[in-house]
Amino acid sequence: MPPSSRSPLFALAVSAGFVLVFVFGFLAWQSPPRMPFPDGRGDLSAIDQMNTPAITDIIPLLYSSLTIAPAEPTFSYIDDANNLTRLELPKKPRYKKKLGRDVLILDLETRQLPSTEDFKRGEFHWRKLNHVSAGVFNHYTYALAHGYDYKFIRAAEFEDRHATWIKPSALANHINDYKFIVFMDADATFRFTHLPVEWMLNYWKIEPHHSITMALDPWDPSLPETNADRFNRTLTNTGFMIVQNNANTQGILKAWHECPDDVRYQGCSEWKGPRFHEQSAFGEYIRYDYEKYIKELPCAEANGYPGVTQSHCEGRFVRHYWFNKFRIKEDFADNMMNAITLPLQRIFAENTNGVIYEQNKNVIY
Ligand SMILES: *[C@@H]1O[C@H](CO)[C@@H](O)[C@H](O)[C@H]1NC(C)=O
Ligand SMILES: *[C@@H]1O[C@H](CO)[C@@H](O)[C@H](O)[C@H]1NC(C)=O
Repeated sequence: MPPSSRSPLFALAVSAGFVLVFVFGFLAWQSPPRMPFPDGRGDLSAIDQMNTPAITDIIPLLYSSLTIAPAEPTFSYIDDANNLTRLELPKKPRYKKKLGRDVLILDLETRQLPSTEDFKRGEFHWRKLNHVSAGVFNHYTYALAHGYDYKFIRAAEFEDRHATWIKPSALANHINDYKFIVFMDADATFRFTHLPVEWMLNYWKIEPHHSITMALDPWDPSLPETNADRFNRTLTNTGFMIVQNNANTQGILKAWHECPDDVRYQGCSEWKGPRFHEQSAFGEYIRYDYEKYIKELPCAEANGYPGVTQSHCEGRFVRHYWFNKFRIKEDFADNMMNAITLPLQRIFAENTNGVIYEQNKNVIY
């Protein structure tokens, strides 16, 4: 290099350095302090710590280019037989705009997350993560990806009834703040993190008068009465519910919550303890008084998981792992890998960042 060209380059490098220092300094001053990753690494510089984006920023960014619009006319995916499946929205979809914080994604537990105990002991490894946490993380990731509100409610235990009876009161106490609450049991997952609630509302034709939407349980011809109520009608499953804020919702939730008091519904207290608890009470009593405001979805659309043969309950949009709960982690991993792989795939496909170097002639220079 001729000596004359060194000094302008050197000057450029120095001024670039100053700009960088200034920019990082400004960012560090701007961003609120964040907890350093608790892995005992004490050697991270202050700048590294303060400019590390939070996972709550990264997840929306990761899904931003995958996300389906509320009224996207079609949705395609690779099914479990590795075939491309294409679904079409019905004509005139009702929800054309994102609902954002008008939707609450809700988890409800009386237990502490098992991963929280692990974390406090310094244990954080994907392979050790419990499926309950994986389910909850799937729901939270989904909320972040679409900008919905999210809550994990830790409810007190009942003294006189099964823990799942917490559902009606928790829903009643929060629905006034939202247009919709999408409630999920910890063993239920959103099959497609990138498919928004609005699209499913359109697909299922949820109307303003529908207060509660649930999927049916499977019907097995060899055991036709297993999931049936006293009128031999198949129960709906409360593991996934879309609750809409309308004029009848509070009344339905109150009737449901008070069902085991045996005042309005004689005999409902039968379901305080035995299976299927609040789910049986809803199917046996509540839905008969509010038929018009309850929407029942086919089991195939929002219940079960791949491999279930009865009623095609293979969890097309929402999966509910009654058994094989370890597979919740597979769903979560599948969705995360989709989001992480796409930007990597793009880098190689478009050769941004100069990753691909063409070797035109295979000789050693
Ligand atoms: C999936 O595609 C294969 C051929 O690639 C076909 O044999 C099979 O029937 C398809 N499955 C479904 C469920 O459509
Ligand atoms: C309940 O309905 C199923 C059909 O859905 C039928 O096979 C079964 O015999 C019925 N059971 C009773 C007790 O009526």
